[in-house]
Amino acid sequence: MSDMFTDHVVSDVVSRSKIIDIINASRSFQVGNFLHRVELLAVNDITFSLHSEKPEIFTIAGESGSGKTTLSRLVLRDLEPTGGDVFFEGRSVRTIRSKEDFHNFMSKVQPVFQNPFETFNPLRRVEEYLYDTAINFGRAENRKEAAEIVDQALRHVGLSLEEVSKRYPHEMSGGQIQRTSVARALIPNPKLILADEPVSMVDASLRMAIVNLFQKLRDEEGVSIIYITHDLATAYYISDRIAIMLRGEVVEMGPVDKVLGNPLHPYTQLLKESVPQPQPKDKTTWAQRIGLSTQEVKEYSRTGCKFASRCPKASEKCLAENPKARDADGRSVKCHLYA
Ligand SMILES: Nc1ncnc2c1ncn2[C@@H]1O[C@H](COP(=O)(O)OP(=O)(O)OP(=O)(O)O)[C@@H](O)[C@H]1O
Ligand SMILES: [Mg+2]
Repeated sequence: MSDMFTDHVVSDVVSRSKIIDIINASRSFQVGNFLHRVELLAVNDITFSLHSEKPEIFTIAGESGSGKTTLSRLVLRDLEPTGGDVFFEGRSVRTIRSKEDFHNFMSKVQPVFQNPFETFNPLRRVEEYLYDTAINFGRAENRKEAAEIVDQALRHVGLSLEEVSKRYPHEMSGGQIQRTSVARALIPNPKLILADEPVSMVDASLRMAIVNLFQKLRDEEGVSIIYITHDLATAYYISDRIAIMLRGEVVEMGPVDKVLGNPLHPYTQLLKESVPQPQPKDKTTWAQRIGLSTQEVKEYSRTGCKFASRCPKASEKCLAENPKARDADGRSVKCHLYA
């Protein structure tokens, strides 16, 4: 940890070369009723950074309720951390207050949401929204200039202005509209895209097209992607690094071939085993197969490892003491087995 702080204090150049630097970030929520208020740590002491000179696809995976969206909302400035901090190009996002700073931040860090139909107003033609984005982010002075920028962005995702022209969201397929929402995110020329479950509502047959697009953006446009997903199969295929979240904590993090190729944490092992094999008749979702009982939800407030009650390898120590993250075989892992 001292090294990280040294980065910020001593070397402004180093910290500015980080697009996003998340340092011991936490976010808690007060939940329950007035008789029984409990603090829920949705994100608990998370640290990692993305460097601008090395664009990458960084996946955040983990079961439902593990804190993935909360973490992405901290990065997007949509929520304030209750502990630690998030830095954007070397500067705490808390200090982004002026219109100009906010505009700069928003143009470089763009979200892509799970439900593309929510991104677009159903009563407006899709192209209008794209034109507005180009003009509002200062990429174009007028509609004619905007048309060029919009067409370019659409071509990156395998569409064109001609194809999208005059269409309302409901007149497009799920895959087309999701690709259009990626195109919209590209218009401001971002350095980082946060994509929260971008393919979960898209037909399996179209998923690869969208995740391949992320790879293309990384390789050809130098855009980094934070890819939030339940889908370890696409994560394995496209990511450079992956962080596995459990109850607000990152329990294993590192290069995807290490973490998913040879998972060390028993939770990552469980997730990997639960990846659905292609079984067209099985209609249960991945999240359902993993399951989340009320008992497990209570574990948020426990002192030990958040996985202890479900872990086949748990010892007394696991119940009593939450392990610290340690380096093991080229990744970081938070498990007493690797102490
Ligand atoms: N605004 C809020 N107020 C209270 N609790 C919240 C709030 N937002 C999230 N939480 C809680 O924080 C925990 C983490 O939620 P989060 O949405 O980040 O999980 P997730 O990993 O994105 O889940 P999913 O895979 O279902 O999208 C959950 O227990 C959730 O209920
Ligand atoms: Mg979520």
